[in-house]
Amino acid sequence: MKRFSGKKISTAVFISGKGSNLKNLINFSKKKISPISIDLVFSNNKNAIGLKYAKREKIDILCYENKRFSTLEKKLLRILRERKIKFICLAGFMRILTNYFIKEFKGKIINIHPSLLPKYKGLDTHRRVLENNEFYTGCTVHFVNHKLDSGKIILQKKIKINKKDNIKKLNKRVLLEEHKIYPKAILKVFS
Ligand code: GRF
Repeated sequence: MKRFSGKKISTAVFISGKGSNLKNLINFSKKKISPISIDLVFSNNKNAIGLKYAKREKIDILCYENKRFSTLEKKLLRILRERKIKFICLAGFMRILTNYFIKEFKGKIINIHPSLLPKYKGLDTHRRVLENNEFYTGCTVHFVNHKLDSGKIILQKKIKINKKDNIKKLNKRVLLEEHKIYPKAILKVFS
């Protein structure tokens, strides 16, 4: 495996909830092969369970809970600039970033989504997939642009839906795949 030889790219991870992807990215970032170091975790929810992973690793945490993301984004952008954050990974972040924000980090924000994009953008993907009797589902890592879940795809993993799958089971199976492809997608971005 290739070892990343340059200085690691200072990265922020944005979360809102459980943070299993954050945990996984933290583990990845500590490996020699990782091109990123996670220097900041931002959450729009101070009760996000995932914050415990950042605390455990002593990664700086920033929490703003404004209802409107646009009202806090200037403040957030200033902090990201001050801290020289160069890359952002969204991992279960439940706010839509404004164009203003995305412009400043153009091509430097990526997201993970639990469906085979461009199918099933938005929320509640597993329920919709099951209701539509799909044979396959999966997950996608993509660049973030001004349209929801519509940026250029970096990596995707397809899985077959089992007869016994329900929302909970599918969520678990897809998350396992998410944890495999998110680091791979980051390696691809910086290869
Ligand atoms: C994941 O399914 C991710 O694809 C979606 O939100 C969920 C976050 O899970 N964007 P976690 O908080 O990383 O466990």
